[in-house]
Amino acid sequence: MGAKVIDGKAFAADVRARVAAHVARLKEEQGITPGLAVVLVGEDPASQVYVRNKHASTIEVGMASFEHRLSAETGEAELLALIDRLNGDPAVHGILVQLPLPGHLNSELVINRIDPAKDVDGFHISNVGLLGTGQKSMVPCTPLGCLMMLRDHHGKLAGLNAVVVGRSNIVGKPMAQLLLGDSCTVTIAHSRTKDLAEVCRRADILVAAVGRPEMITGDMVKSGATVIDVGINRIERDGKAKLVGDVHYDSAASVAGAITPVPGGVGPMTIACLLANTLTACCRANGLPEPEGLTA
Ligand code: GUN
Repeated sequence: MGAKVIDGKAFAADVRARVAAHVARLKEEQGITPGLAVVLVGEDPASQVYVRNKHASTIEVGMASFEHRLSAETGEAELLALIDRLNGDPAVHGILVQLPLPGHLNSELVINRIDPAKDVDGFHISNVGLLGTGQKSMVPCTPLGCLMMLRDHHGKLAGLNAVVVGRSNIVGKPMAQLLLGDSCTVTIAHSRTKDLAEVCRRADILVAAVGRPEMITGDMVKSGATVIDVGINRIERDGKAKLVGDVHYDSAASVAGAITPVPGGVGPMTIACLLANTLTACCRANGLPEPEGLTA
């Protein structure tokens, strides 16, 4: 039997629609417009595409979008001064500094300068600590999107065996914390894990976030498991450019109960959750109830 395909594109459109409806209410009832500031340093082509998409999506849900494009030679002091200004600007509820930054800039220093309440990426060390101790925080967008899809598919996640393959600060570690927060039994595996296939086969929920094309194959998937593929890898096959995940889709889909495709799975959820986080930050800043179903 084939797996149910979890349609991330449709799910993300629904999240954006719910955000837009909440934003419209905030404007009408409170006179408040949530605002997101995105800072891009340099001309990295992939980053420019991301930033353009973020701007368009922010406008689409009725939020204010503030774009700050700085030259690749921008010094640390100038960038920190901009972040200080955005931290103090009441029209800005969320701040995102697009990564990677040019090599001469210290990413940790820059990210940790953002007001944690406005850190819609959830990368500030305070938010990392709050998430790790089960307290209210801003949660990184990609793992939040994965959690939303898993809750939607399973209902309650309590007691399920979850295996996260990948230990990055952006996806693997926060994903594991979120699953633990929903009372899963969580294993973090990675490229050095012994007998990775056997570890993966124990998973009711298998999240692949290793950044290696098609590394997770069908023989590593338990029958009926839910497979969430966070990978976005550009490869060449038969002379053609192709986008593949960290999961070998065809073999995994023949065993899994449900699976996210690449593209059209986790990918579209990241920006949708960035907008959800901006709305959450705005509600918290104004002492208003948080949007339901859009937070961890
Ligand atoms: N570059 C690639 N992904 C991300 C992300 O999620 N946040 C930021 N700030 N930069 C990125």
